[in-house]
Formats: sequence, C-alpha cells, structure tokens
Amino acid sequence: DAARWRLRGSWLVLFCTSALATFHQLVGVTLRTTDKIVWANEFEPIELTCLIESISTNNPRIEWKKIKNGVPSYVYFQNKISGDLEHRAQLREPANILIFNTSRSDTAEYRCEVAAIDDQRDFDEILISLAVRVKPVVPRCSVPETVTVGTSTELRCLENEGFPAPLYRWFHNNDELPQDPKNSPKFANSSYSINPDTGGLKFRRVRKEDAGEYYCQAKNDAGHAQCPPQMMEVCDVDILGIFLKCFCAVVVFLCLAASICHSLRRGCFHKKGHNENNYNWPAQSDGVDYGDADEGHFRHKSSFII
Ligand SMILES: *[C@@H]1O[C@H](CO)[C@@H](O)[C@H](O)[C@H]1NC(C)=O
Ligand SMILES: *[C@@H]1O[C@H](CO)[C@@H](O)[C@H](O)[C@H]1NC(C)=O
Repeated sequence: DAARWRLRGSWLVLFCTSALATFHQLVGVTLRTTDKIVWANEFEPIELTCLIESISTNNPRIEWKKIKNGVPSYVYFQNKISGDLEHRAQLREPANILIFNTSRSDTAEYRCEVAAIDDQRDFDEILISLAVRVKPVVPRCSVPETVTVGTSTELRCLENEGFPAPLYRWFHNNDELPQDPKNSPKFANSSYSINPDTGGLKFRRVRKEDAGEYYCQAKNDAGHAQCPPQMMEVCDVDILGIFLKCFCAVVVFLCLAASICHSLRRGCFHKKGHNENNYNWPAQSDGVDYGDADEGHFRHKSSFII
C-alpha cells in the first residue's frame, strides 16, 4: 500500500515538473542584460548585452533602437546595422550589439526588442543606457598678471568637452593647492578658496607669498588635462606713485590758478591802460555782440601769449 502511494507521489512530481517546463516554454521569450547602465570610454569598444533567457521560436526577429532626447531611431533593423552605428557596430549572438569605436554621440538609451511569433508570450524588450566618457581637453585658464597686496582677485579655469563634467584642481609653483589652506602648513596663511566644480580660485586678500606660477587641471574618470603655467605677480601698494600723482595734480592746479589770476590782472591793466587799438579791434565792439565769451577767449589767448 505504502509502495503504491509512493509510486503515485513520484508520478505526481514528474507530471508537475514536466508541466512547469512546458508552461515555461509556452510563456515565451524572456530577455536579460548584464548591465542596464553601461559606461564606456570614448574611442574604445563596448558591447551592450541582450541575452535571451528562454525562447521556442527558431528565428526570432531582433531589433535595436537608439533613443536620444526621447526620439527613437533604428540601429539594428531587418538584420542590418543602420543609422548612427552603420559600419561601426555588429550584432553578436544571441542579440548583443558590439560598438567597435564609441563616440560621444553614442551616449543614449538603447532598446533591444525580440519578437518570437511561435511563443505564447511573443515579445520582450530591454532598455540599456549607455554613457560615453570623454577626456577633458586643455582648460582655458585666466590668471591676472599683477595684483596689489591686500586686494582680492580670482583665477578662473574652464573646460567644456569632458564628460562627466570634470573637477578642477589648482597648482602653485607645481604644488597642488589643498582644498582648504588651513589643512596645510605651507598655505595656512593664504586666504584663498577653491571651487572644484566651477574652477574658481579666489583670494580674499593677496599676500606677497601668493605670487608665482599657477596652472589648473581638469580631471574626470576618462582622463585629465591642464593649462600651461602662468605667472601672477604681487606688487606692493605704490605709495610713491600715489604721492607723485597727488603732487602733480596739486602743481597743475596751482599753475592753472596762477595763470587765471595773472590773466585777470592783465585784463584789468589792459582796460585801464594803453591798449586802445587792441580793445577797439572789432569795429562794432560797442555793439551788443561784444559778449563775455569773446572776452574770455581773448583773455585766455593773452594768458598764453604771456
Ligand atoms: C576611433 O575613431 C576616431 C575618430 O572617430 C579615430 O580617430 C580613431 O583612430 C578610431 N579608433 C580606432 C581604434 O579605430
Ligand atoms: C603664518 O603666520 C604666522 C603668524 O603671522 C607665522 O608665524 C608663520 O610663520 C606663517 N606661516 C607661513 C607658512 O608663512
């Protein structure tokens, strides 16, 4: 009796497993990928995997689409690589796509679609996003040639090609400036701050010791690049210069004042004295048009003659 029960049990198990297997096959095509988010370096090959877990159709229809900014386009269609990837990629078993030489324009989402008409569930798709890293190019750096002690200044660094966006570091006479000057005995007294995201190097109060050669480096996962060093000179407040300028201004003012006084006095003298012919020079001088402007002009001239 017990033996018969055991036999029945094993039949049941056998039936269930085979039914499950059949069911699984009938369920149809199922896709899988090893990476849903793929990073590649520009100019290197990359394979996007589209693995077929189960299928019972012999010749499934395989398609790949590229979706960039929400717009889909074919990259594998009717058994051919087409569109952006033409001549730059190939399909590999079972449904992978291999890009030989990635470019920055390949950054997009890719959808593998498999249609299996003989399967009960006859379609599956899988979405993979590809991001192509781009090495930074030489950044554009701006370093002031001279700054005055005690003033504030900013050095700037910018790079636009790198992907992902690079982080910036600054170097002073070939020593990297630490993010926080307080952390380094060498730069402890400096007043700078660095923004590694924007590339700005700001000094609140420039010291003599901040003079030197500066360069900046832009770096991301794909590589780094730096601008050539540029000299920043720090000069003292020019007290002598300021004094000389003031002195000159005062001298000029005094000269002017003196010449005005002089011409005024001379004008009075002319009026009183022997200058009839001069004074009567415009025949109609008694008329209305003998104005202040003319007089001024005349006086001015005479002051120069003297
Ligand atoms: C990849 O493409 C770039 C230009 O698009 C080319 O300069 C480079 O030589 C190519 N690399 C390989 C390995 O084919
Ligand atoms: C920083 O300033 C302090 C006090 O003014 C001084 O003793 C020290 O030597 C300075 N350090 C550097 C590296 O210049």
